[in-house]
Amino acid sequence: MATLSELTQQFQRLAAEEADAIRSAADSAQLEEVRRGVFGRKGRLSTLMRGMGDLISEERPLAGKAANDVKEALLAAIEERAAQIRKEELHAALEAETLDITLPGIRPRIGSLHPLTQTLREIEDIFTAMGFTIELGPDIEDDYHNFGALNFPEDHPSRDMQDTIYLHSDLLLRTHTSPVQIRTMMARKPPLAIIAPGKVYRCDTPDATHSPTFHQVEGFMVDTDIRFSDLRGVLQAFIHRIFGPGVAYRMRPHFFPFTEPSAEVDVLFERRNPGGALVREPVEILGAGMIHPKVLENCGIDPERYTGFAFGMGVERITMIRHGINDLGPFFDNDVRFLRQFD
Ligand code: PHE
Repeated sequence: MATLSELTQQFQRLAAEEADAIRSAADSAQLEEVRRGVFGRKGRLSTLMRGMGDLISEERPLAGKAANDVKEALLAAIEERAAQIRKEELHAALEAETLDITLPGIRPRIGSLHPLTQTLREIEDIFTAMGFTIELGPDIEDDYHNFGALNFPEDHPSRDMQDTIYLHSDLLLRTHTSPVQIRTMMARKPPLAIIAPGKVYRCDTPDATHSPTFHQVEGFMVDTDIRFSDLRGVLQAFIHRIFGPGVAYRMRPHFFPFTEPSAEVDVLFERRNPGGALVREPVEILGAGMIHPKVLENCGIDPERYTGFAFGMGVERITMIRHGINDLGPFFDNDVRFLRQFD
């Protein structure tokens, strides 16, 4: 049985010891442990307070006040330490997380499609809207698909080493996308309405208007009763979609061994000459014509029954015209300062 003075001493000791424990609690978990050790059902304060029952009634209020003072002092100390710990923990979290949500974000550069890809996608959209479907062919062709079946005579200058990259006496890098006509017409029968985009290769030294690799889009349509006027209508629709509805163009007679008659198409751009007069400058964008009966026959299609037209356009040329670019080089240099302009 403890006397009042013993009890009071014990309260003081508890207050001093626990105040120390509270101050040295390193984190909120330790602080909670200290709190429970004092105020819990079996905690030190509760245990001591139970001892008060043994005192005589005059002494009890004095002991009660001592107990209350200790309780209040310790609760205040716990509250104070808890606030410090919250601050320390927040500080530590901010330190560890380097993420400062108050800083403006870094915008990632997503990049964009290459200007040639953009033009190609537009060409594809225009023709697929007219009912054409897309076919692809191999970049490595044999002489027959690239030349022979397209009615190039054996000694035609286009077959020379001058502008063809041969891999082997019979294998070459295709010089145009027209072999896709041959492959498609051999595999499938009319009605056909196809475009064939792809890379083509010629033995050219690169300069502002030449590149040994460039891109073409072939197009052709074969059915009963396909006429030159169909070709013209399709090309006009294309030109007005890609260059604008008012743009003038002309079809000029030309020669290709695989079309008869053949034409080249120039778009006519208006420009003021140094004297101020409006002049129309023709820029060639494609070759076209009615598919030669020999070519249909080579592919097992009866030229008495079927007719067709074909065209082949240069993707670089069209992109240069649309953006006013006068040099092919930057398309292949991968310099982002150039490419970024087409974001
Ligand atoms: N293949 C021809 C070229 O590369 C273009 C063309 C295609 C011409 C289809 C007529 C018909 O020059």
